[in-house]
Amino acid sequence: MFRYFPFYISLAAAINLYATHYDGNIYTLSLDSQNSLSIASSLKTCGDAPSWLTFDSSTRTLYCSDHSGNSIINGSLSSYSVDKDGRLTELAKTSDVGAAVHSTLYEDKHGANYLAIAHYGGSALSTFTLPLSSDEEPLQVIRYQMSLPGIKPQQDAPHPHQAILDPTGAFILVPDLGTDQVRVYAIDPHSGRLNACPSLNYTAGSGPRHGLFWKSKPSHLAQAPVTMLYTVSELGGQFNAFFVSYLTSGCLAFRETQSFVPYPGGQLPAGATPAELHMAGTSLHASIRFDQGFTPNDSLATLAHYPNGTVNFGQITSSYGTVPRTFVINKNGTLVAIGDQASSNVAIVTRDPRSGTLGNLIANLRVGDSGQASNSSTGLSSIIWEE
Ligand SMILES: *[C@@H]1O[C@H](CO)[C@@H](O)[C@H](O)[C@H]1NC(C)=O
Ligand SMILES: *[C@@H]1O[C@H](CO)[C@@H](O)[C@H](O)[C@H]1NC(C)=O
Ligand SMILES: *[C@@H]1O[C@H](CO)[C@@H](O)[C@H](O)[C@H]1NC(C)=O
Ligand SMILES: *[C@@H]1O[C@H](CO)[C@@H](O)[C@H](O)[C@H]1NC(C)=O
Ligand SMILES: *[C@@H]1O[C@H](CO)[C@@H](O)[C@H](O)[C@H]1NC(C)=O
Ligand SMILES: *[C@@H]1O[C@H](CO)[C@@H](O)[C@H](O)[C@H]1NC(C)=O
Repeated sequence: MFRYFPFYISLAAAINLYATHYDGNIYTLSLDSQNSLSIASSLKTCGDAPSWLTFDSSTRTLYCSDHSGNSIINGSLSSYSVDKDGRLTELAKTSDVGAAVHSTLYEDKHGANYLAIAHYGGSALSTFTLPLSSDEEPLQVIRYQMSLPGIKPQQDAPHPHQAILDPTGAFILVPDLGTDQVRVYAIDPHSGRLNACPSLNYTAGSGPRHGLFWKSKPSHLAQAPVTMLYTVSELGGQFNAFFVSYLTSGCLAFRETQSFVPYPGGQLPAGATPAELHMAGTSLHASIRFDQGFTPNDSLATLAHYPNGTVNFGQITSSYGTVPRTFVINKNGTLVAIGDQASSNVAIVTRDPRSGTLGNLIANLRVGDSGQASNSSTGLSSIIWEE
């Protein structure tokens, strides 16, 4: 006979994370309520070199981009449905420009969904209409050229590194490490196509890599909301802040308000480079690769953010591994998952959601084979929370 228990035992559900590795796998990780982190499953998929994941929580669809290929040889784009245990089922796979490193979701005014993908080695930005279908052609491929190489050896070609959606959902920004600019696109509200606007230009040799927007909350002081763009530059080592204005021309204007190296003493050790940038609550965090600030580990820099948009360097803490290429903050701002590429581990540290201070290492897991610090095509390439 059916028997009721007098009460329900509430078991805090485990949280899933997903990691890509240049060994050709997507790994599903599970963090349980005891802070035990383990590999729940893995799937050999997403081309030869899975590099980036974007999760659409509304449809529980995961998009994976592939680093293989270049501007001539294609790579791939794949989509997966995700069950509650984080198991992936491939939904579609198509050919895309090669050497993808980042993607972002956006919509048009009719609610149709798209994905914009930055191709570092492919020197291009591509967009696709969603849901992705197998062998779907891109909606748009915007290929970049430069007449002369930049001043740093890495600036041999245009190298778009990220696609960033602005807070109004009307613009996509693309930091281009090769050409020292953040490219700006206005999204056509009817077709989802991207129209080029004047770009934000950097000092030669900066190499802007990643960035994010912040918009102030409406205040009772009848002040107009403030929108800021924050970026980190891989080659120059700078953190930059820009005041953003929305022009009647349908494009954006930027006024730089701050530029400094987010590191103690305002100077990076030789060879160290900022990589990822994220913000939650009142702090920003930038990962710093190759600084060996906590030997054998590299660092995460924490920066204080003020309501007027000003940012001050705070401190560095251990990245608990080498070459922290990516990291992600959970939604409630209490945990940070760090994806260390060369040591190929995922380290989870606590974060005080009020002060932004990073605390103890609570879980740490090696994922796949470790990579070589000297070879950026090896090791763990990205990490995300399923949220
Ligand atoms: C490469 O991808 C493009 C779409 O970006 C497609 O039109 C083209 O046919 C592909 N080329 C090959 C050789 O698969
Ligand atoms: C940045 O430089 C490009 C030329 O490389 C120019 O077309 C663009 O207008 C410049 N952007 C601004 C805001 O001046
Ligand atoms: C922004 O706020 C901080 C902290 O209150 C203050 O130190 C700084 O001077 C302000 N900056 C500007 C430009 O108002
Ligand atoms: C480096 O990271 C490892 C975890 O990957 C940790 O066990 C060790 O204590 C860390 N050392 C320092 C100095 O941060
Ligand atoms: C944040 O999320 C974690 C995991 O879901 C949960 O344990 C914790 O209670 C949450 N904290 C806050 C402040 O909401
Ligand atoms: C870097 O690693 C990739 C993947 O294992 C390999 O194909 C490539 O030859 C390596 N490059 C160098 C310079 O060792």
